Amino acid sequence: MDTYATLRIGDKELQLPLINGTEGEKAIDISKLRAETGYITMDVGYGNTGSCQSAITYMDGEEGTLRYRGIPVEQLAEQSTFKETSYLLINGRLPTRDELTRFSVMLNDNSLVHTDLKVFFQNFPRESHPMGILSSMVNALRSFYPSLARNTEEINIIMTRLLAKVRTMATMSYKISRGHELVFPRPDLTYCENFLNMMFDSPVKPYEIKKEVVDALRVFWILHADHEQNCSTSTVRMVGSARVNLYAAISAGIAALWGPLHGGANQAVIEMLKEIAEGKGDYKKAIERAKDKNDPFRLMGFGHRVYKTYDPRARIMKKMCDELLESLQMSDPLLDIARELEEVALNDQYFIDHNLYPNVDFYSGIVLRAIGIPTSMFTVMFALGRLPGWIAQWKESQDDPQWKLSRPRQIYTGHKKYDYVPIHAR
Ligand code: ACO
Repeated sequence: MDTYATLRIGDKELQLPLINGTEGEKAIDISKLRAETGYITMDVGYGNTGSCQSAITYMDGEEGTLRYRGIPVEQLAEQSTFKETSYLLINGRLPTRDELTRFSVMLNDNSLVHTDLKVFFQNFPRESHPMGILSSMVNALRSFYPSLARNTEEINIIMTRLLAKVRTMATMSYKISRGHELVFPRPDLTYCENFLNMMFDSPVKPYEIKKEVVDALRVFWILHADHEQNCSTSTVRMVGSARVNLYAAISAGIAALWGPLHGGANQAVIEMLKEIAEGKGDYKKAIERAKDKNDPFRLMGFGHRVYKTYDPRARIMKKMCDELLESLQMSDPLLDIARELEEVALNDQYFIDHNLYPNVDFYSGIVLRAIGIPTSMFTVMFALGRLPGWIAQWKESQDDPQWKLSRPRQIYTGHKKYDYVPIHAR
């Protein structure tokens, strides 16, 4: 088996080591390239660039495979809980019963937030986007809990605190935005049940926790729990590479996820489906616009940088969506439009040629609507699901013996040197 790739530039030859992953993924190690040749590589959008070696998540975009710590996501969605999956991602293996109990106790013990945080929430303008609020508030947590992690035990507390408090904070922002009383977390409820109860319970109308709704949320969060080196996760790693605290790194990840080309797509899908519904359901016009090179419109919830086949998460989400609506005996006109849109797109030559399939966001918005989550909170729901993945990736990067401050290069294309001209002489 080859262990080196040979690069020739002019009369200079360089041997570049090859790296193999456990699933046969291949890389060329170019870490000495610039020092030895003066060249850098150019890869806008990093589609061909590995930024780390990671043992957390494996995905194969051609096969439509996704595994957390080696376990297929389908099995976790079917059999695991979000809490257990979080433990798996962060600690690298499934917990024993005792470990899971201890983890539950720690989550419960850390789920209350400092009451002063309420003042912060109340002072955001009414129209603020919940992702902006969440990103700021997670960063602010560092000021409320200033002790820095010096050993494994302290790191575990900070990671668990984030998992527990961010869930509480998300529900707080929703309650405050509606001018409602806050609902406190209850130790007798599971992680998912607690979230739903804090979101929807009120003294006027007690919230009835339904098994199928809890299950839908559990699956939604498990499917979003990690996705290797995407825009927000790489942001967490990159910001974390400067050795900032975990709160700041996660806050940056939340900001990256907010974008409509990334986590914001679930909200964008619903807005697109609503627009189609308002135009009396003319989804064919949306397909034509998506294909028109002169129109910036894209079919939201379609396409993925890595998946060139059906996103495995989208398959599970679609099934979940059908089952949830049926068991709640709900109908959603947007679901009918989504189904028709998908069918037309999957048979359209443009979408076939460009390998464009539904991604996880295509059906997740309809699931969230059925749960009762307002559209403006959709991306927050994604962020809550992705939290264990970000934490696991941050932890892995901090422990990495090959750790380096992230510092990409560029090719400068601006002016050549010229002299400053004082304003009176211009
Ligand atoms: N609708 C129409 N055309 C599309 C779409 C789409 N949704 N997605 C990609 N294309 C086309 C592009 O126009 C381009 O066409 P061309 O080669 O003829 O110029 C080609 O497919 C490749 O597009 P890129 O943007 O280069 O592909 P990339 O891999 O960078 O894009 C992305 C991935 C950003 C997700 C893109 O597919 C997209 O914008 N999708 C819609 C937004 C969305 O659903 N985002 C959620 C992603 S999943 C997640 O983050 C959880």
